[in-house]
Amino acid sequence: MEKQGRQVRGRLVLVPCPLQGHLSPMLELGSILHSKGFLITVAHTKFNFPKPSSHPDFISFLTIPDHLSDHYLISGDTISFLLSINAECKPLLQDSLIKLVQETEDKIVCVIYDTLMYCAGDIASHMKLPSMVFRTNSLTTLFTYSKFPQLHQQGYITVREDLVQDAIPGLQHLRFRDLPMFDCPIEALMELARNSLNVRTSSAVISNTMECLDEPVSELQQQFDVPFLTIGPLLKIAQMPQCSLLEQDSTCISWLDKQSQGSVIYVSLGSLAMINAKELEEMAWGLASSNQPFLWVLRPGSVRGSECIDELLPQGFRECTSERGCIVKWAPQRQVLAHPAVGGFWSHCGWNSTLESLSEGVPLICQPCFGDQKINARYITHVWKVGLELENDLNRAEIARAVKRLMVDSEGKGTRQNAIELKKKIELCTMEGGSSYNSLNKLVELISCN
Ligand code: UDX
Repeated sequence: MEKQGRQVRGRLVLVPCPLQGHLSPMLELGSILHSKGFLITVAHTKFNFPKPSSHPDFISFLTIPDHLSDHYLISGDTISFLLSINAECKPLLQDSLIKLVQETEDKIVCVIYDTLMYCAGDIASHMKLPSMVFRTNSLTTLFTYSKFPQLHQQGYITVREDLVQDAIPGLQHLRFRDLPMFDCPIEALMELARNSLNVRTSSAVISNTMECLDEPVSELQQQFDVPFLTIGPLLKIAQMPQCSLLEQDSTCISWLDKQSQGSVIYVSLGSLAMINAKELEEMAWGLASSNQPFLWVLRPGSVRGSECIDELLPQGFRECTSERGCIVKWAPQRQVLAHPAVGGFWSHCGWNSTLESLSEGVPLICQPCFGDQKINARYITHVWKVGLELENDLNRAEIARAVKRLMVDSEGKGTRQNAIELKKKIELCTMEGGSSYNSLNKLVELISCN
């Protein structure tokens, strides 16, 4: 089929999970597949609907008319939020898709849904539409969740203080404290894990990761009996600006321009993690006593119980760091990490932040909060060896030491060097003949067979 002189291979319907860390990789996947000849429709909830200016205009949108609110997210209960999205969206998405099928003249060749929007898998199967699962985090995380039923049966999942430092049987590199837990009842987490692990009738699992980072591809293929395609890092392959749900404050880039090379520690805990007022205070004084310039993202709502973060910053902190500190509510993170002035990233280790940092060769200080962040932190520190972890309760002296060690001291030299080496390996994955390059071609072939 040809449209406006372009060979068209059919229409794809993408169903992202409407959260920052999930939406941008899905839109990037859409942008890449559009460049390979597919038409792209994104089915998105009214909740967190992206502004038209934040995505390319070749993407058309199908609105799911939900009434979701962010009250679960504000209370820190991400798992209940995800379960309720699926329950509420299932009939609404189905109606929208039926209408689309009736109205569009293009063949829908595949529904690609975020693994957390598992209701879309059921709908696709019911409507006899081909489908694929898209995972926005690591395969090691998927592999770990696949072991949950067995670990639960053995009584290992509920936190046992005596075991936290022990290695998990069957999960190389991970200790019990690295399990991807959330602050929620175990039954809710098990329900979400069960649903998101069920690949239903999907013909492949696509993952925003790379062979050089993630090990368990062949074991997963055997276990789930579908191809696993690792095609990341999408941020480096897609030709589009990052889609941000919050407005990015670019003034910090001109501030970075004035700092010397590799001197700035960038601090951000992503779009969902929350800290308390005491932790904020320790972070502030830790940064102050590190004596390094810092760029700190303080997202409104990220300190429990307060909207106005300025009021929570300790007295005297602004004054004593005004020469070498920049604080913003939300930064253009990818631009920041690519800036030559940035020499380290103090992160919660969400998968996107991890990929963004590794792709720029920036070493990390890890402060994982929940879920897969703990696994990512363990891999950053002990497998790829490109960072160090703040393991105990946040403490200003330990923070200052960690910043110095990562950015300045000779002790951190190996870590900094490893980050540069890993960046090169990641680049190779996306080049012609690289593993992600090849998997992407395979993905296009698989979809085109539908
Ligand atoms: C959530 C989960 O917390 C995480 O564990 C999972 O891997 C993905 O979903 P989130 O908190 O959103 O992640 O973190 P992350 O995956 O790192 O994504 C955050 C995104 O926001 C990144 O793409 C980052 O570039 C962007 N960001 C962050 C900004 O654009 N500006 C900022 O100031 C901070």
